[in-house]
Amino acid sequence: MSIYWDIEVFAELPSTQSICKNGAEDGKAEGYVVRALKQTQGKGRHGKSWVSDEGGLAFSFVLRPGVPVKNIGQISIAVGVALAEVFVRYLPESDVKLKWPNDVFLEGKKAAGILLETNLNEKQNVEWLVVGIGINFNSAPDIGHALCNFSDIDVEPTVFLNDVLSCIGDRYATLKSAGFETIRKAWLGYSYPVGTLLNVGRFHSLDEMGNLIVRDEAGSLKSVSAGDVHLKEQHYAVGH
Ligand code: BTN
Repeated sequence: MSIYWDIEVFAELPSTQSICKNGAEDGKAEGYVVRALKQTQGKGRHGKSWVSDEGGLAFSFVLRPGVPVKNIGQISIAVGVALAEVFVRYLPESDVKLKWPNDVFLEGKKAAGILLETNLNEKQNVEWLVVGIGINFNSAPDIGHALCNFSDIDVEPTVFLNDVLSCIGDRYATLKSAGFETIRKAWLGYSYPVGTLLNVGRFHSLDEMGNLIVRDEAGSLKSVSAGDVHLKEQHYAVGH
């Protein structure tokens, strides 16, 4: 069953994430979306801030996957794949990549980021998941980020948003019905090449739970399930 996306738009909010989490807490259904044309206290991953003024596209939505907490990594990867797919659809000539777990890079610079926040029930199952997405749509922060060149193709943010949500719904449905392998393969198709130098080792692969597999300096493979992973190679090193 596809998700019904119930979108609420605000001119300005501190963060769509907080409002959406309040909604989830109050029982809003899967598919509740909060969008803000401007955020004054946008939140990024690892306690960083996320700049999103009027030119950005910022929204958060509720999922209620009813899965154990260990499956969240797979959902996070699936959302990243969906976002990359829509980027490629609109910018087929551009270099679109995913950096683990789900940052979208455009021509080697970060163009979109995803933040997941969860609430677990007493059985350690996910009660709700709030996914926040920030896209440098018509403006980008001055920290080496990529500005999406959507102005060249003249697409409205609302149209783009609907496409992103629809693609996320499709990928989420694939994950539920067919399992993670299709999503994992799709993610690998967007990833940086094997051997790319990251701060945690050299990129090797993605495992069946969505963890990153890297090769360390001694040549051993190790799994990374959390933390701030960024690219170390010069031509990819901006905007992480
Ligand atoms: C990252 O650090 O890459 C994740 C950035 C997530 C930003 C989005 S913008 C919409 C939602 N509201 C927030 O405050 N943060 C997320």
